[in-house]
Amino acid sequence: MNLTDQERQSLIDLANEARRRAYAPYSNYRVGAALRTKSGRIFTGVNVENAAYPTSLCAERVAVVKAVSEGEREFEVIAVVTDNGGSPCGSCRQVLSEFGLDTIVLIADGAGRLVHETTVGGLLPEAFTPAHLITD
Ligand code: THU
Repeated sequence: MNLTDQERQSLIDLANEARRRAYAPYSNYRVGAALRTKSGRIFTGVNVENAAYPTSLCAERVAVVKAVSEGEREFEVIAVVTDNGGSPCGSCRQVLSEFGLDTIVLIADGAGRLVHETTVGGLLPEAFTPAHLITD
């Protein structure tokens, strides 16, 4: 799928705007995500931390869970914004891979600059996917 620069930027801007709502009092590392489905809906997500640290939720997974719980499972592109253009964690890569390796991933910094564009498959080579559970 081909994205225009305008599409890229508007998704990055939405993720960056969502980032302001991140709840990250422990790490102070605020993450925002914006996930666009094939049907054209957009779900944002932010990291939501917890005093019991491992209970914290990542922005990407919040966006995926919001989408799936609203009946959307087919994704086109996700933008992820952090101050320093950080890359999605392994758990988020795995959760995204469940719904397709071709989902485009836009990684941007706090100034809204795209620092890297790849796919879920690019971030998670040789992924374990639902196909591996089909044994017949
Ligand atoms: N975080 C995300 O939201 N997404 C990632 O892919 C990397 C890490 C969050 C989790 C935690 O709230 C903070 O960033 C620092 O790890």
